[in-house]
Amino acid sequence: MTESESLNKTLKVNLGEKSYPIYIGEGILPWIGQYLKEMELGRKVMVVTNPTVGKLYGQTVLDSLKNEGFEVVRDVIPDGEEYKSLESAQILYDTAFNHSLDRKSAVIALGGGVIGDLAGFVAATYMRGIPFIQVPTTLLAQVDSSVGGKVAVNHPRGKNIIGAFYQPRMVYADITTLKTLPEREFRAGMAEVIKYGVIQDREFFEFLEKNHGNIKNLAVPELVRVVETSCSIKARVVEQDETEQNLRAILNYGHTFGHAFEALTGYKKYVHGEAVAIGMVSAARVAVRLGILDAREGDRIENIIRLFELPLTFGRLSPEEIIRTMHHDKKALGGKVRYVLPETIGKVRIVSDIPGDILYDILNEQTDYCIL
Ligand SMILES: NC(=O)c1ccc[n+]([C@@H]2O[C@H](COP(=O)([O-])OP(=O)(O)OC[C@H]3O[C@@H](n4cnc5c(N)ncnc54)[C@H](O)[C@@H]3O)[C@@H](O)[C@H]2O)c1
Repeated sequence: MTESESLNKTLKVNLGEKSYPIYIGEGILPWIGQYLKEMELGRKVMVVTNPTVGKLYGQTVLDSLKNEGFEVVRDVIPDGEEYKSLESAQILYDTAFNHSLDRKSAVIALGGGVIGDLAGFVAATYMRGIPFIQVPTTLLAQVDSSVGGKVAVNHPRGKNIIGAFYQPRMVYADITTLKTLPEREFRAGMAEVIKYGVIQDREFFEFLEKNHGNIKNLAVPELVRVVETSCSIKARVVEQDETEQNLRAILNYGHTFGHAFEALTGYKKYVHGEAVAIGMVSAARVAVRLGILDAREGDRIENIIRLFELPLTFGRLSPEEIIRTMHHDKKALGGKVRYVLPETIGKVRIVSDIPGDILYDILNEQTDYCIL
């Protein structure tokens, strides 16, 4: 297969001088060196990955970079959200410093959202910012976290507390890497994909409904459309509101509830996308109850979540505690809770004041031990 045949789509995130391309393709990883060579970068690059992804794809990336004359420094951070930390960042700063990386050297994140956020944070802060390349290998990272420039590490008291807006210079997504992704991680990524349909694109939502079988079987044309459309929606939102002053908040559909489910289960029971899926159901049901969304549209949202084998209810959590957690999180940060509610599939609105009894009822219906 030639390079041009295997490269399926190129998108652009338009942010003036910070604009960058997103390459999406099948089997494009062995050509990454060529793409990097066309950019104005130094000869030295640092590849950040974890043992799982490193074992699968590290050599391909390394060979490609070396073939194009790059001097590659590699650092492997253990696998897991708990390593998205300042301690891991410190290890990466040390490596960068020990190998004399300078302001032209690029940091290349090879992995899922954890590696992308961590490596991006290091790139944003080392020497006040050096070039950063995203090579996302999970569905969530390909459709969401690699685009938009949010980079962060966790603080012991909260996720993503220490971070920055720092755009990558390029996103390079090879959908072939999704073949090795555990099914549960793939499904979780689909929650974010469904989210894009609900917030902005009815036709895409319908495509997902019709093609759920092929998507789950990782059929290439469908998968390329999934990644391309998702990236394109996210890019358009980010272009209008890079630093989340207003519009970008719509990307949080399902997340206000989802974060509370994750926090209350100690980030152990659900992977992020599962919590978001349940949260999208909560938000849709609230919207129906408030008369904002037609009940049939709400059913379609629930049905697509079911089609992609994502959860709709949560276990033994108390509705009061969920509400308290959502309010507490926001109050701690000096803001109001902003709920993203669907008006129809393809359009959402942001609502701040939802009566407590409605929230309680909806969440109570979603527990596995509903109190009648
Ligand atoms: N920056 C943003 O805008 C943004 C948006 C959403 C989420 N996030 C962050 O993303 C993180 C979650 O990302 P994630 O869901 O990608 O999780 P992850 O990075 O932990 O990856 C999930 C698992 O899949 C493995 N993996 C990755 N690629 C693989 C592949 N191709 N084959 C086999 N295994 C593979 C990883 O090693 C890991 O065990 C969270 O920290 C979250 O805060 C950031």
